[in-house]
Amino acid sequence: MTKAEQLQTVAILVPGDFNDHAIERIDSTFNRVRIERADPALVTDEMRSNVRGIASFAGINAAMMDALPNLELIASFGVGYDSVDVGHAAAKNIMVTNTPDVLTEEVADTAIGLLINAVRDLPRAETWLRDGSWLRKGNYPLSRLTLRGRKAGIFGMGRIGLAIARRLEVFGLPVAYHNRRQVEGLGYQYHPTLKGLAEAVDTLISVAPGGASTEKAVNAEVLSALGANGVFVNIGRGSTVDEAALAAALANGTIAAAGLDVFADEPNVPKALLDAPNTSLLPHVGSASDHTRRAMADLCVDNLVSWFIERRPLTPVPETVNVKAAG
Ligand code: DGY
Repeated sequence: MTKAEQLQTVAILVPGDFNDHAIERIDSTFNRVRIERADPALVTDEMRSNVRGIASFAGINAAMMDALPNLELIASFGVGYDSVDVGHAAAKNIMVTNTPDVLTEEVADTAIGLLINAVRDLPRAETWLRDGSWLRKGNYPLSRLTLRGRKAGIFGMGRIGLAIARRLEVFGLPVAYHNRRQVEGLGYQYHPTLKGLAEAVDTLISVAPGGASTEKAVNAEVLSALGANGVFVNIGRGSTVDEAALAAALANGTIAAAGLDVFADEPNVPKALLDAPNTSLLPHVGSASDHTRRAMADLCVDNLVSWFIERRPLTPVPETVNVKAAG
């Protein structure tokens, strides 16, 4: 059997909606098995004995992994993998891969767009033009806020955080950051606590990953430290924010504005954030261009191909880097 013929026999489970290009590539390379969602109750006996890989945009929990005893690899679509139980995967010798790097610049571009929207109120200004207010009422009111003179703080100085920082530098903003650990050799000012960073800046951009260690890290205390001229932008994960505290801070003037691409319970967005006049909201589109999603799809599928031919992944997540392929 040729390698290509061998791959045709490997069953890859794809739960729920998935990227079209990834589906085309999986269909032409592997034996794709479809399932409505990643739910162990939907796993048939045939899937149980055949499935060796999963390609997924959605989360994969421990029960789903346990329902597939021959599972070797979860190729997660996206850089954030907080919805995959990687601890359980590592314990069961299941490799997990993600799609870093190929989306970095796109997400950084979106973060800057969201920041400018939040500061200069551009979405409402566009509505003003479109609904005829410009004709009927005259010029759109001056924006209360400006990017000029701001100091930016990045929560989560990874690859995307750095790409955002570089862009902010070009905009003339000084940059500081908070991470679990200081990044060696990086010239930006490091703050060992998120509150310390918020106190030092007036523009906080969160790129932090989800998970227990960042759960509701952006809380009432951090928002109060950011201050009345403060702008908060979230391009990372909604779980990192106490959304009730954020809504209260926006309503009572503790901070000035927020730009949010991610929410704790997507696609549900708290009404208080929807109704707030000082929010700019996006439906989790950070990496969502055809170009970038295609690159993510290729990396996701290339990980499957590499694993099932070379027996090694291209972009393993750190938690499963020591998982070894059997045979
Ligand atoms: C990611 O890659 O983590 C983006 O948020 C898309 O889910």
